[in-house]
Amino acid sequence: MPKITFVSADGAERTDIDAASGSTVMENAIKNMIPGIEAECGGACACATCHVYVDDAWAEKVGSPEPMEEDMLDFAYDVKPTSRLSCQIKVTDELDGLVVQVPERQA
Ligand code: FES
Repeated sequence: MPKITFVSADGAERTDIDAASGSTVMENAIKNMIPGIEAECGGACACATCHVYVDDAWAEKVGSPEPMEEDMLDFAYDVKPTSRLSCQIKVTDELDGLVVQVPERQA
């Protein structure tokens, strides 16, 4: 099972979780009660409350958002170049070790 590390907004806490391939990063955050991920729309790319920052080392592997996600990211708080909506990141074996940071707050 791929491991994902969620880092808190202040960087103080790191939570490692085991994620199932084929699920999304958001689904794993909710299942593991990661603070700061709200996911109000349940993964429909319609709320921007599952916003995360992908660690620089992983940005290329995770890839960039599709146009629909990019439009939705306009509603997210404090968007950065590595911002993604976690419901749009599919967990694969290649993403084993992925590190994402939760923003200070959601939209
Ligand atoms: Fe709503 Fe990701 S859960 S956009």
